[in-house]
Amino acid sequence: MASASRTFTRALRTTAPAFRTTTRSARFVAPSQTFRKQWQRGYATDKEDQPDKYEGNPTGLIVGAVALLAGAGVYGLYTQKPELFGQAPKSSFFVPRFEDYQKVYNAIAKRLEEHDDYDDGSYGPVLLRLAWHASGTYDKLTNTGGSNGATMRFAPEGDHGANAGLKAARDFLEPVREAFPWITYSDLWILGGVCAIQEMQGPKIPYRAGRTDRDLSFCTPDGRLPDASKDSSHIRAIFGRMGFGDKEMVALSGAHALGRCHTDRSGFDGPWTFSPTTLTNDYYKLLLEEKWAWKKWNGPKQFEDVKTKTLMMLPTDMELVKDKSFRKYTELYANDNEAFFNDFRDAVVTLFELGVPFQQPEEHRWTFKSSFD
Ligand code: HEM
Repeated sequence: MASASRTFTRALRTTAPAFRTTTRSARFVAPSQTFRKQWQRGYATDKEDQPDKYEGNPTGLIVGAVALLAGAGVYGLYTQKPELFGQAPKSSFFVPRFEDYQKVYNAIAKRLEEHDDYDDGSYGPVLLRLAWHASGTYDKLTNTGGSNGATMRFAPEGDHGANAGLKAARDFLEPVREAFPWITYSDLWILGGVCAIQEMQGPKIPYRAGRTDRDLSFCTPDGRLPDASKDSSHIRAIFGRMGFGDKEMVALSGAHALGRCHTDRSGFDGPWTFSPTTLTNDYYKLLLEEKWAWKKWNGPKQFEDVKTKTLMMLPTDMELVKDKSFRKYTELYANDNEAFFNDFRDAVVTLFELGVPFQQPEEHRWTFKSSFD
């Protein structure tokens, strides 16, 4: 407000000197006899000794009145259209802060709790997948893609095969967006991912806001997200394009402790773990400890656990035990849930921020309270 009034004063100084003089005089000293005397002294020296009475020339008063009216007009314009005076438009005076984003987090968490009739009892996994697919299009060479833009709202990207089923997550977040219309879709989707991880008892995921929504010309070409039927060289090519190394690739894959595959989406079928709505290192344990065999069915090639035939692994998941360098980290995370949580958190923070030109510095990331804190 102080700066607003400073700018207003500055604007007056440069645009309306008559208004300035008249207003100041009128406002502070107009009613007093002293003023009239001074006024006469300044502009009518030859009348110094004459009686203090109006002589009949109205020009000064008219000028004063016009200037006052003009001043009122300028002030009205300033309050209604501050952008004409170099100020931010009125509607954007609201600058959301941590508390506002925490409210959005709480609203998502509340919806997660209320809508437990979806899949295995939670929208959490599909929310995380939405945030990952929004971010995972990033290409470090061209600095294109990534979570800045929320371009999956548009048909070319939303219709990419890899994004099948993510409408459920976008629709789930729509009422939250309606309740908090100031948040961008791109910030909201990532906040949805953060909230999903935390509410599914994963680590705290520090967050920065500042993504903008962009138009469909920023949609990325199809093929930037991983193909589950491929091998380790494909995994390295896709995640390497985003700037990740082997360790981060294995840590991020631990998200498959959550959720499931759907035949009407990817074509694959089933969950990876017995607790698909709680984040644990079970994915790595099961990869190493269970016996896996090709599933005999009329669908895409995938693995199933020999013992119960209820769990699944994608061909890309199995690469985490087949590939020597990947396996090293798979063993590390299977034995140490804390190491998994720490590396998962760091890799997810990086993933969610790829390609976003933040104003908020790294050291000022926010950590949201979970619903059970
Ligand atoms: C090589 C890398 C990856 C491949 C090939 C892959 C592939 C898949 C496929 C095919 C599905 C099943 C989709 C469906 O039918 O609904 C899926 C689900 C999922 N993915 Fe991945 N993914 C990869 C990496 C990741 C990463 C890095 C994350 C997050 C950090 C992630 C999180 C998830 C989650 C949470 C689900 C469950 C979604 C649900 O339950 O609806 N994935 N993934």
